[in-house]
Amino acid sequence: MMMTKRIFQLLTLSVTLCLSLASVAAWDELSEEELERQLVEKFEKGEYSKKGADNCLTCHRKDAKVMALFDGVHGRSNQPGSPMAGLQCEACHGPMGKHNRGGKEPMIAFGPDSKLSAESQNSVCLGCHTDSRQQSWHASIHNVEEVTCAECHEVHAKHDPTQNQLTINDTCTGCHTEQKSMMNMRSSHPLKWNRMTCIDCHSPHGSPSEHALVKSDVNQTCYSCHAEKRGPFLWEHEPVTESCVNCHNPHGSVNENMVHYRAPQLCQQCHAEDGHANRVVQRADQDAFGAGQSCMNCHSQVHGSNHPVGAKLQR
Ligand code: HEC
Ligand code: HEC
Ligand code: HEC
Ligand code: HEC
Ligand code: HEC
Ligand code: HEC
Ligand code: HEC
Ligand code: HEC
Ligand code: HEC
Ligand code: HEC
Repeated sequence: MMMTKRIFQLLTLSVTLCLSLASVAAWDELSEEELERQLVEKFEKGEYSKKGADNCLTCHRKDAKVMALFDGVHGRSNQPGSPMAGLQCEACHGPMGKHNRGGKEPMIAFGPDSKLSAESQNSVCLGCHTDSRQQSWHASIHNVEEVTCAECHEVHAKHDPTQNQLTINDTCTGCHTEQKSMMNMRSSHPLKWNRMTCIDCHSPHGSPSEHALVKSDVNQTCYSCHAEKRGPFLWEHEPVTESCVNCHNPHGSVNENMVHYRAPQLCQQCHAEDGHANRVVQRADQDAFGAGQSCMNCHSQVHGSNHPVGAKLQR
């Protein structure tokens, strides 16, 4: 009786050990500094495996995620400059060294669960991806906020999610939940159907303009699709030429036409001096100020007017 209990305990113990080996890397216990130090040392020694990927796959081939590398561009040995045409797995994960002795020695791991700093992870990718599209990366908010390349990109996959119009928004809204809720509001750009994507307006790798916009400023970005709003108009409306986001939320709004507030409040934010512009709306249905388009019942050309007598944006 005693004996069987012991054996049972031993069995469960070894099962637990196997499980922990399979799910947690041994170096999970290391501090960030110690991990980084060991990896740098490994790179200096540069002990790459003799058989490349074949070596790694003796242990890692059962992981379907690992094998999916071969369905994507990074797994193609006939692609010039691809990892598989060179150091193979170790082009990204670093030299094997003594890692094959039971997986105890650390390798470079990627993504949100990796203990390695974002900068170190990203330097691996930037080693090959040096083209002009990465020019603004360094100064971008994503870099400053330590977002990693691997949080948006998947290399162990047939299709990288950023290369498909249907999965880009999901990639972004995974972190940007506020924009996700706005894009599902009553009035919004057709983002929820993926007919438009975040990168129609934003450059994910950063850009020289504010908010990482694809054009030099807000208005230029909007004009690229709403050309009719560009003008020039005979009679301009100052807040329009200044910035469309004075009145619109480009991600969506509970109000029609994606405006921050409904008229007349929208207009009264700025036109609050005495006079008819400040009228309190009382009889909404009978009053030119409160009914229909409110202020736009008369000032219908709120974006600017080309009519000779359109000074007050009425025609
Ligand atoms: C003798 C077996 C063995 C070999 C060969 C081997 N590994 Fe590992 N590897 C392991 C074990 C065990 C772990 C830790 C458990 C785990 O996370 O899967 C591990 C973990 C990893 C991890 C971290 C996974 C994570 O979840 O963070 C990476 C990356 C990795 N190995 C890459 C490689 C690469 C690249 C090669 C070839 C250069 C290689 N391994 C060769 C056994 C091996
Ligand atoms: C282009 C760079 C690159 C190459 C080449 C590469 N990997 Fe990875 N590997 C990554 C990234 C990035 C991740 C994080 C998961 C992801 O984004 O797909 C990862 C994740 C892993 C993991 C953890 C998988 C898991 O289930 O969480 C293992 C193990 C691994 N790679 C092994 C390998 C092996 C073996 C090879 C060669 C056959 C290889 N990698 C080639 C970049 C690379
Ligand atoms: C050894 C060089 C090398 C490394 C390291 C490398 N890549 Fe690549 N990558 C390539 C090549 C070659 C291509 C295919 C040609 C191209 O698009 O430039 C490519 C293509 C891509 C693409 C376009 C994907 C597609 O499906 O067309 C993305 C995204 C990408 N890499 C991201 C990454 C990320 C993220 C990392 C780091 C985890 C990384 N790469 C590391 C060489 C590399
Ligand atoms: C915030 C998400 C995000 C991050 C972080 C990110 N990317 Fe991208 N990346 C994208 C999107 C979205 C595209 C598709 C852009 C397009 O088609 O214009 C892309 C495209 C690419 C491409 C293929 C097309 C091209 O521009 O050459 C490569 C290569 C690439 N990224 C590499 C990287 C590297 C390297 C890093 C890290 C230094 C990185 N990316 C970080 C979202 C991201
Ligand atoms: C891993 C999380 C993560 C992902 C995925 C991500 N972002 Fe971000 N993004 C951040 C963080 C963190 C910030 C900085 C804090 C903030 O503004 O929320 C940021 C900021 C931004 C900003 C503000 C930039 C500025 O200069 O004001 C824009 C625009 C942006 N992201 C667009 C995108 C787009 C487009 C995508 C998808 C291609 C994306 N993000 C994917 C984390 C992420
Ligand atoms: C139609 C163009 C457009 C689209 C599409 C768009 N944005 Fe924006 N985004 C902007 C503009 C313009 C700003 C600057 C807003 C401002 O100054 O008030 C901005 C600002 C941001 C910011 C910074 C917010 C802050 O308060 O600092 C983030 C984050 C962001 N966008 C993420 C996203 C994400 C994620 C998506 C996709 C779901 C997306 N955007 C789609 C135009 C757009
Ligand atoms: C990539 C093209 C594109 C860009 C860039 C763009 N828009 Fe749009 N916009 C659209 C499309 C498409 C619609 C929807 C038209 C429809 O549904 O009939 C739309 C609709 C609108 C609407 C009307 C929404 C409604 O409820 O009917 C407003 C307001 C608007 N956009 C403002 C902006 C502003 C402000 C910017 C700049 C921050 C901008 N747009 C940038 C394509 C774009
Ligand atoms: C002073 C506030 C204000 C500013 C600034 C503003 N809009 Fe509007 N916008 C409105 C109002 C109010 C409506 C709805 C009534 C209408 O159509 O005139 C509207 C409607 C729209 C529509 C949908 C209907 C249509 O006219 O096509 C688009 C698109 C649009 N705006 C784009 C823009 C763009 C692009 C800018 C920047 C160049 C901009 N708006 C700046 C107040 C503004
Ligand atoms: C962000 C501030 C702002 C908002 C919001 C705004 N305006 Fe204006 N508006 C101005 C400025 C600034 C001028 C030009 C200076 C002036 O004459 O007051 C102007 C001028 C005008 C004029 C012409 C005045 C004249 O004497 O030539 C009219 C009419 C007008 N706005 C109507 C509206 C209406 C209607 C709305 C709401 C849809 C609106 N405005 C929203 C700031 C704003
Ligand atoms: C019934 C039509 C009508 C409505 C509704 C209306 N306006 Fe006017 N608005 C006018 C006329 C007419 C003028 C004077 C034109 C002139 O002097 O040539 C004017 C002038 C203005 C001016 C220029 C400065 C001034 O007071 O003379 C502003 C600003 C203005 N309106 C804003 C608004 C705002 C904001 C609203 C909504 C709360 C609004 N208007 C609603 C007809 C209207």
